[in-house]
Amino acid sequence: MNYFVGYQRSKYQYQNLSDIRTHTTLRSVLGVVILGLSLTLLVFTAWHFNKEQEDNVCVLYFNSRQSPIHVTSKKFLSFGLDSSLLRNMQHLPVFVERFIDLARHLSPAYVRLGGTSADCLYFNKTALGIYEGIAGSLNSNDITNFTINGGDLIRLYRFATKARLRMIFDLNVLLRNPDGSWDDGNAQDIIRFAKEHGMDLDWQLGNEPNSFHYVFNYTVNATELARDYRRLRRLLDKAGYSRSLLVGPEVNHVGDENHKGEWYAKEFLDASRNSVDYVTWHQYYLNGHIASLEDFLNVTTFDYLPSQIKSMIEITGLRDRNKSMWLSETSSAYGGGAANLSDTFVAGFLWLDKLGYSASAGLNVVTRQSFFGGYYALVGPDLEPNPDWWVSVIYKRFVSEKVLTLVTPNNSGKLRLYVHCTPKAALMGHPSGVTIYGMNIDSIPAHILIDGLLSMQDRPVQIFVYLLTSDQLQSREIKMNGETLKLCQNGDLPPFRPIVVEPMQIITLPPYSMLFMVVQADLVPSCLP
Ligand SMILES: *[C@@H]1O[C@H](CO)[C@@H](O)[C@H](O)[C@H]1NC(C)=O
Ligand SMILES: *[C@@H]1O[C@H](CO)[C@@H](O)[C@H](O)[C@H]1NC(C)=O
Ligand SMILES: *[C@@H]1O[C@H](CO)[C@@H](O)[C@H](O)[C@H]1NC(C)=O
Ligand SMILES: *[C@@H]1O[C@H](CO)[C@@H](O)[C@H](O)[C@H]1NC(C)=O
Ligand SMILES: *[C@@H]1O[C@H](CO)[C@@H](O)[C@H](O)[C@H]1NC(C)=O
Ligand SMILES: *[C@@H]1O[C@H](CO)[C@@H](O)[C@H](O)[C@H]1NC(C)=O
Ligand SMILES: *[C@@H]1O[C@H](CO)[C@@H](O)[C@H](O)[C@H]1NC(C)=O
Ligand SMILES: *[C@@H]1O[C@H](CO)[C@@H](O)[C@H](O)[C@H]1NC(C)=O
Repeated sequence: MNYFVGYQRSKYQYQNLSDIRTHTTLRSVLGVVILGLSLTLLVFTAWHFNKEQEDNVCVLYFNSRQSPIHVTSKKFLSFGLDSSLLRNMQHLPVFVERFIDLARHLSPAYVRLGGTSADCLYFNKTALGIYEGIAGSLNSNDITNFTINGGDLIRLYRFATKARLRMIFDLNVLLRNPDGSWDDGNAQDIIRFAKEHGMDLDWQLGNEPNSFHYVFNYTVNATELARDYRRLRRLLDKAGYSRSLLVGPEVNHVGDENHKGEWYAKEFLDASRNSVDYVTWHQYYLNGHIASLEDFLNVTTFDYLPSQIKSMIEITGLRDRNKSMWLSETSSAYGGGAANLSDTFVAGFLWLDKLGYSASAGLNVVTRQSFFGGYYALVGPDLEPNPDWWVSVIYKRFVSEKVLTLVTPNNSGKLRLYVHCTPKAALMGHPSGVTIYGMNIDSIPAHILIDGLLSMQDRPVQIFVYLLTSDQLQSREIKMNGETLKLCQNGDLPPFRPIVVEPMQIITLPPYSMLFMVVQADLVPSCLP
């Protein structure tokens, strides 16, 4: 017998997502028998299905007795505003309600003000605002010095407060004394000003110091930087910021052939005497100027991040240091992102996979470059959300900080899936639940069945599926279960309408689609809030 009726290939087109339900008619009267035979049945039906459809059904193994392998920060999904945007503050819409709303939908999160321009930034609380540059332009190659004043800092902090974000400020480490040591006078001015204005925030010092030689024709080696960080930690403690985080060393070039970023970080950590709370580094898959659509879908691109993370952990000896890592600046492609790729639907795959993989590898925070500015922005210059903003909002809604494991036969190929506990707020009355999420980056549909839900036959289980697709990979539009996602007129999120499926039902991920699947049941005791 076949419990999986109604499957037709033609129904698995993007246009017909609402037809995706197939009917499972497992009678409760068979429950006990089925329970015993479940695995056999599963294998049989998978085989049967397979034979009929000439497609693979991927069986996922989910152990409901597991405990979370990691607990990330509640601000795991965070984002940055590049310091270069502070060069023309009057064009940064931090006071625009729409902009604040778009940021608030991603709360709780850190907003990191950092980047190459952080090491060109001078603070003078009484300076007149002298603004240059062109509206909305993001020139990450600009290394001229510039000044921000007290009002600028207040405006930035007010934005963070209104959007319920925690601000991280990246201080300038390239202000040096004649003997080469860090001149901390300007940092003291900012810290004092912030304290006087009741600002509660976290800190960094410098940006990609291992690359200063190329960018600024100046070198600050890892040992010197560690000394500067120790000094900053003392300053913060004295100034009333002893509870603020200090994170570093903000290296890049991790996973490169000669592993420069990792070695710099190792030397830094050896000398930093615990002055940083988290070990931070920057990650990009591609060069935005030459990246292609194929690169955004190439499994080799996806697999770069795991190799970078492993290399960083190994070379820095992170496991013995009792510290976890942040990707403190990360996106699909450097150089402002890739035009018509980083700002379109296709970018969602690398982004969602980065979130899933990083959490499963024990990272504490992933800071998306950027919220605004550049092709890789979550929000476009027209203050309309890009697809990755939607992916981020949906992630916040359905994925909690408790990371579980899912055994899948092919999780490093084109079907990439992860599982976390479901946040309490998304549980609609149920005591607990898990969210399975991920993607199919293949040109053919992927069919999945989740073993481990079978044993739930005797208990109430509700499964809600949210499939994200688009009519075109390079579209700014993204659909949930066939409906284009659009903010409400008043800036509120639209209702997310699920497809309800049965525990024994095969779930089909259309070609090039993302999946969020909330399984509500009292099934993983360690997921109980
Ligand atoms: C700060 O700006 C004010 C007003 O432009 C100026 O008078 C003062 O000299 C500046 N201070 C420093 C230290 O540059
Ligand atoms: C920027 O300021 C730093 C620190 O004062 C100085 O060393 C550097 O020469 C300045 N850069 C430019 C381009 O003026
Ligand atoms: C780099 O700095 C050195 C001195 O520190 C100077 O002699 C050299 O000309 C600089 N190179 C460039 C390309 O500016
Ligand atoms: C780092 O720089 C300091 C100061 O310039 C120098 O004394 C030290 O030898 C350097 N360390 C390394 C490993 O190059
Ligand atoms: C994927 O990327 C790798 C490494 O850049 C390359 O060798 C391979 O040809 C690419 N595959 C496709 C299908 O583009
Ligand atoms: C590791 O860090 C955690 C949290 O920072 C702390 O509670 C714990 O005592 C540390 N363990 C060791 C062995 O240092
Ligand atoms: C983006 O790329 C697609 C596919 O190549 C093309 O149809 C579209 O016109 C491009 N859009 C822009 C704004 O360049
Ligand atoms: C996993 O998927 C990739 C890409 O589709 C494929 O090349 C690989 O053979 C698959 N591995 C297994 C074990 O099925």
